[in-house]
This record gives sequence, C-alpha cells and structure tokens, in this order.
Amino acid sequence: AVTAVIVVAAGSGERLGYGMPKAQVPLGGETILMHALRGVVSSDVARQICVAVPKGDTVLRESIADFTVDLVDGGPEVTVVDGGSSRANSVRAALAALEDGTEFVLVHDAARALTPERVFQRVADALSSGAKAVIPAMPVVDTIKTVAETDGQDASIAPEVVTGTAPREQLRAVQTPQGFELATLRRAHEAAELFDEKQAAAVTDDAMLVELLGVPVHAVRGASQSLKITTPLDLIIAEGLLEGPLG
Ligand code: C5P
Repeated sequence: AVTAVIVVAAGSGERLGYGMPKAQVPLGGETILMHALRGVVSSDVARQICVAVPKGDTVLRESIADFTVDLVDGGPEVTVVDGGSSRANSVRAALAALEDGTEFVLVHDAARALTPERVFQRVADALSSGAKAVIPAMPVVDTIKTVAETDGQDASIAPEVVTGTAPREQLRAVQTPQGFELATLRRAHEAAELFDEKQAAAVTDDAMLVELLGVPVHAVRGASQSLKITTPLDLIIAEGLLEGPLG
C-alpha cells in the first residue's frame, strides 16, 4: 500500500528555551529534525514524507533540501508545507499536500527524533493487517490523577484538588508515529475544523479525533527512545541515548 509520513516540525520550542524552533535545536551534532527524518527514511515505510515547518522558516527548508539531495534513487519523495497555529492545523496543512493514491498515513512528531525503526514498522504492519487507526503506546509508571482548580476557602490551602484516579493498568502514554487509513484521518480532521476554541485547544493527538468518529484505535508497543524532546531535561536524556549503547 502507498504510505506517506507526515512529520510535524512547526512548533515554537518555547519550553526547550533555545530561542529557536525546536526542530532546529542541535542534538548530537545534528538538528532534531534531521534525526527525525533519518529515522523515517531508514524505517523504509514511506513513499512520500511531508514536513510541516514554521511559517516563514528558511533554515529548516534549506536543511530539508540538502537532506533530500542525498537520498538515493527510489527513496521517498520529500515535500515541505507551512505549518499552522496549532499542531492539528499543521497536520491539516500536510494532509492537503499528500499525493493522489496515498492509502495510509503516519503522523510523526519531529520532537520524537530518536524513534526506533521498529516502531514505524509495527504501526505500518497493523495498518496492513486491517487497522484504520493505530498508535504506539507505553505503560505508565506514575499514578495519574485528574484535578480541578480549587475555589473559595480551599484555594488558600492548595491551588488544586484531586477529582479522581484512573486505574494505572488501563492507562497508556501515547507516542507517535500514529498510523491511519488516509480517508479516515481526513474525515476526522474535517470534523475537528468545526471545533470551538476550547475544544480545539484540547486536541493533543490525531487518534483522539478518530476516536470521536467511533472508529476503533488499536495500540501497539512503543519505545522509551521515542520520548518527546520537550524540556531541557529531555534533551539531556536524548544526548545520553545517542552516546550510550542504544545510540
Ligand atoms: O507542542 P507539542 O509538544 O504538542 O508538539 C508536538 C509536535 O507538534 C512537535 O514536533 C511540534 O513541532 C509540532 N507542532 C507543529 N505545529 C504547531 C505546534 C506543534 O507542527 N503549531
């Protein structure tokens, strides 16, 4: 089946504190985006790779052009689009740029730069086996609780109060690449275009939009190396992974 991979790299990287888009931040002598792109190419699942970069960016576009020149004949076609104001808008921009005939699409965060090839392959295999949606997921180690802001008298004690505890064995930390039948993901994103501001702000991955359509989302095993590089601590961990036995 013809499969495309969307790499969303249009985030600001504010939480990393480098003063530049996260995809441009150096990691082991290369940028986060270059690590991510090499991972996608070596997994060999994609006919087309579509990268969403920050609007107005020229630095990432140039590095993608250099990367593309070095690809061997028969390698994937690489397309670049301007990202949007939210991750979902960046995905939508890329969905509009996929080639005709594409059947499956994997949506991947550039920030998960060290995702192992086998995770891409697991996701692609589940799609080939008939899944319309599949996500890589990991068991959680922390106990996860829901909270609400405290008001009135309680606010002087603590800012939040616990409203519930989900059973940990049923919880998963969800990663990317998330894989979809292209027609299903397009339908999910069209429905999400009608969201109000609050609903739109609560969209943190693509699978949740597909869940809202009532389409089953399957989960395969992710990997610890797929961590999303978000904070300075994550960057230290990623550098350590590259230097260590897993690098
Ligand atoms: O902000 P968050 O950590 O959820 O970002 C996850 C991924 O989505 C990152 O790779 C980031 O570059 C991308 N993103 C994007 N466009 C935005 C916001 C985030 O492509 N407007």
